[in-house]
Amino acid sequence: METVLSGIRSTGHLHLGNYFGALRNYIKMQDEYNCFFFIADLHSLTTHPHPADFHAGVKTILCEYLASGLDPQKSAIFVQSDVPEVSELYVLLNMIAYKGELERTASFKEKVRKQEDNVNAGLLTYPVLMAADILIHRAHKVPVGKDQEQHLEMARVLARRFNNMYGTDVFPEPQAFNFGSDLVKVPGLDGSGKMGKSEGNGVYLIDDEKTIHKKVMKAVTDSGPTEPNSKMPDSIENIFTLLKIVSTPDTVAHFTEAYNNCSIRYGDLKKQLAADICKHTLPIRERIEEIYNDEAYLHNVAKRGRELARESASATLREVRAVVGFKSF
Ligand code: TYM
Repeated sequence: METVLSGIRSTGHLHLGNYFGALRNYIKMQDEYNCFFFIADLHSLTTHPHPADFHAGVKTILCEYLASGLDPQKSAIFVQSDVPEVSELYVLLNMIAYKGELERTASFKEKVRKQEDNVNAGLLTYPVLMAADILIHRAHKVPVGKDQEQHLEMARVLARRFNNMYGTDVFPEPQAFNFGSDLVKVPGLDGSGKMGKSEGNGVYLIDDEKTIHKKVMKAVTDSGPTEPNSKMPDSIENIFTLLKIVSTPDTVAHFTEAYNNCSIRYGDLKKQLAADICKHTLPIRERIEEIYNDEAYLHNVAKRGRELARESASATLREVRAVVGFKSF
């Protein structure tokens, strides 16, 4: 059976981008694959979260994972820092990752622009830690959104380079995965770019109905089409992209036709979009609230996940250490 692995950083709440870009795939994959899903708390340290808030960030993602339908009976659900083998593989992979290729990754260049006063080595080697997460479980498939495509390419490059350098086939080359189609980019509500945690343009799984309606009604639009079948500006196309993700094909066809014959009312479009987002997220929101206070359950889930993940990780690391030439006296 093929192995699947993926993770989400422990910063803030999960938004529709995380859910429809990644998490929804995790849930569907649980029945068919050997699954590992984790909370990337080491990755979140690049932005120096306050220690008093750190654990709460991890707990938030764990609860939102479970509320969304991740099943600890089917998948190993664990915290990245609970598996020290990952950090050791990260050190080893850093020896074969080159400064030039790391500096060229789009995510690093973006971080340099956004947080120029904190360009730490962890940011530069962020894709190496990601590769370690993936390769330590010898994952074949990695369900992620479009923004992670380049990081997956880096994981493949490092797997291949390690295998070639040491004359081994210990690491399979991991493929980014989305059910039945290309990787997804969920747009934000601000008319440009992707939905993101730090962008302030997102709808969160934890948002209540009123908040969702308010956010969607405020989404950027224009004054409406004046000629039949005109090209949509980005802001309107983004709203239709979201509609295609959350609504039925009939609803999408109805509003597309209304746009094309210039009878569309953006107020109606947004009301429909908000209502259809709520259908997906409100049941999850209810379960988040139930799970959040069940410390015993969360403890058991994380413990079982840690045990499964460490068992798999230590088996890989044992092989890797032998291949590199470590020998104990
Ligand atoms: P993170 O926490 O930024 O995002 C988690 C997952 O959500 C997806 N995603 C989106 N997909 C579509 N549209 C969007 N607007 C959108 N925003 C976020 C991301 O593609 C991702 O799949 N580095 C990773 C976490 C990570 C990881 C790994 C993932 C660490 N190690 C190993 C896979 C394998 C990250 O920061 O994702």
